[in-house]
Amino acid sequence: MTALSLLFMAVSIALITAESSVYFREQFEDGDTWRSRWVESKHKSDYGKFVLSAGKFYGDAEKDKGLQTSQDAHFYALSYRFADFNNKDQPLVIQFTVKHEQSIDCGGGYIKLFPSDLKQEDMHGDSTYNIMFGPDICGPGTKKVHVIFNYKGKNHLINKDIRCKDDEYTHLYTLIVNPDNTYEVKIDNKKVESGSLEEDWDFLPPKKIKDPEAKKPEDWDEREKIDDPDDKKPEDWDKPENIPDPDAKKPDDWDDEMDGEWEPPMVTNPEYKGEWKPRQIDNPAYKGKWVHPEIDNPEYTADNEIYKYDSIGVIGLDLWQVKSGTIFDNFLITNDPKLAEEVGNETWGATKDAEKKMKEGQEEEERKKHEEEESTRKEEAKDEEEEDKEEEEEEEEEEEEEEEEEEEEEEEEETDSKLKDEL
Ligand SMILES: *[C@@H]1O[C@H](CO)[C@@H](O)[C@H](O)[C@H]1NC(C)=O
Repeated sequence: MTALSLLFMAVSIALITAESSVYFREQFEDGDTWRSRWVESKHKSDYGKFVLSAGKFYGDAEKDKGLQTSQDAHFYALSYRFADFNNKDQPLVIQFTVKHEQSIDCGGGYIKLFPSDLKQEDMHGDSTYNIMFGPDICGPGTKKVHVIFNYKGKNHLINKDIRCKDDEYTHLYTLIVNPDNTYEVKIDNKKVESGSLEEDWDFLPPKKIKDPEAKKPEDWDEREKIDDPDDKKPEDWDKPENIPDPDAKKPDDWDDEMDGEWEPPMVTNPEYKGEWKPRQIDNPAYKGKWVHPEIDNPEYTADNEIYKYDSIGVIGLDLWQVKSGTIFDNFLITNDPKLAEEVGNETWGATKDAEKKMKEGQEEEERKKHEEEESTRKEEAKDEEEEDKEEEEEEEEEEEEEEEEEEEEEEEEETDSKLKDEL
């Protein structure tokens, strides 16, 4: 055996040992039995109901069935428990699809991942979670993907702005958290954001702080330019801003006794030069801007395990929706990003085009129906007009006939009288 083939063997064994685990997968393909797996919280008595539905349009009537919010202006609180695990030294991948087919105005489309000590019957908005991830829309101002991590008891929002999809189609959301404290967010199997946990969240205090001992020296000169000490104000500089108009003349009919003493009107002095300012020169004592020296922050302690959660055991949909109709489907939690991508391709990827086609078909039909209605309406209006016209014509004809009859009668009368005359 060559050294190279030995190496190949070692590599393939390493690949095999790094087995992928699926902690949770839910695609709602067994009818109403999901109700026995998912638990509705009783923390409030009026949570909105989820129903199983593929929606108004879909790529596959069965496969695209998911949990749909069915009541407007309601809170929703539903969760699922799986075998507790931790993500130590492993990637953590959370993936699911969201379809806002109602063209959502305001509502959450995210999931929460809880430690296994969560009491599902009492799950509510303030229940402690590990991770919150997914789209959130409210008006034109909020259209973002939340990535919130609980770190040492406190929730931290991502410092970056990740825009979510706001159309009516199904979209695939994926969060990957790696044991090297990096992360990646994907939408529709395409990376939209990635980086380091430490840099993109404020989990830890800053590494460096301004040295509290350091002070700017009193004689530190930060003035780049100074007045030229040799520059003097010229003696003839100062002139009044306004002077009596030299061209003005006392009117001939001016009566000092009646009108008072005559004074010429004031005009702007052409010789006025404004305030004098000395010339500016480079400051020979200039030392540059003082920079506050930094020191290592004594409060900072590096943490190589920011990514790590000791207990992950429940996934929950804890949401508020104004206009309901959102469908959640294709949940997957695994340690294998490649597997998640494959599953994404096989689920969302396999039905998205057909879904689009069906929606476009419906829109086309809708358009045609509208057009037909419109043209029927116009034709009916035209028919009425024609009927009106015909009636008018008929009336005219009748009138004419009447006139003719009258004329005939007159003629008859005339003949009658002629006859009489002749007689
Ligand atoms: C998923 O689909 C995309 C687009 O067809 C492809 O480029 C990618 O390789 C697929 N990924 C996997 C893991 O099969």
